[in-house]
Amino acid sequence: MEKPKLFAVGPVYVNEKVRNEMSRQMFSHRSNTYRELHSNLVQKLKKLMKTNNEILIFTSSSSGIMEACARNLVKDNEKVLCLSCGAFGERFGEIFELNGKNVKILSREWGKANLPDEVDKALSEDNYAVVTLIHNETSTGLMNPLKEISDVVKKHNVLFVVDCVSSMGGADVDVDACGIDVCFFGSQKCLATPPSMAICSISNRALSKAKEVKNKGFYLNFEILKKSNDKNETPVTPPIPQMFAMSKSIDLIFEEGHENVTERHKNISKFVRDKIKQIGFEIFPDENFASQTLTCVGFENFKKQYPKFDVKIMKEEMKKRGFILAEGYGKIKDKTFRIGNMGNVMMDDVKEMLDNLKEVVKMFK
Ligand SMILES: Cc1ncc(COP(=O)(O)O)c(C=O)c1O
Repeated sequence: MEKPKLFAVGPVYVNEKVRNEMSRQMFSHRSNTYRELHSNLVQKLKKLMKTNNEILIFTSSSSGIMEACARNLVKDNEKVLCLSCGAFGERFGEIFELNGKNVKILSREWGKANLPDEVDKALSEDNYAVVTLIHNETSTGLMNPLKEISDVVKKHNVLFVVDCVSSMGGADVDVDACGIDVCFFGSQKCLATPPSMAICSISNRALSKAKEVKNKGFYLNFEILKKSNDKNETPVTPPIPQMFAMSKSIDLIFEEGHENVTERHKNISKFVRDKIKQIGFEIFPDENFASQTLTCVGFENFKKQYPKFDVKIMKEEMKKRGFILAEGYGKIKDKTFRIGNMGNVMMDDVKEMLDNLKEVVKMFK
């Protein structure tokens, strides 16, 4: 990365090769040139997401797909179970509620993971049409045990919707092995492309369910999207520049090696956590479930050692040195800051940034 180096949690640094893809001349989205772009991108996404399910392309951010799930997958007399352990889990529940759906939120304290046994128990106690999970809770830097939760969800007759917004591309997500009915993410996180496009995979089971649900509207209607997708098109004008960018970005992931990329994310996040603790900070979430795409840093105990510590001043100082860190989110906004390592962040970038952070905190002694 060139300076200022972004350790953000999305949008993240976009490398030059990907940026260049966006400067192409435009063409009609009802042309063969477009259909080829669409079809190629869909094939690459299937490989990345490890799925044979349909892939739908949305001209929206990820929240558009969250809303689409609320509009398409639940009938008025049905219930949804939203697993939550942070801001985005709560948000998903709120989106269903704002769409008039009947929601039960199964929450854990922020920083603790959703656990398979609790999910199994909740699904046994009542009938739900849909269960939602946030794979990587970006507000707390926590990665839920997707595989283990998917094993218990499979025992129940329920659609499994998984938000992989800040994990897809940076962690191993095997959509078909986990039996995920709708798996979604946005362009601006680990795929390191500019924002405003979102992708989901959708199973036949979820598509069939959408056919039975009334009042799905137009823009986020899975049935309408699927019909166009069959022609390698979208019902509305697609984000052509972002599609070129994402296509390139997936090529780069496979050039580096998909597994190598996820290993790199894992190793870098572990390195960040170790160094952060050496400096004296705390890891906010339960470290057994620490995310591999970002680190959420707490400073409650750190402040005892460095009473003058001010997170805003620290971030400003780091910015002057050419490193942009992310602020805390939601109700832990003032208690934490975050260090993203999504996409193109390399070990050397992280080492340089952490050396500077070590220097910067000395001013608060
Ligand atoms: C886990 C998670 N889910 C959903 C969203 C919402 O994404 P967007 O703001 O791109 O709609 C975010 C955004 O950061 C996120 O981190």
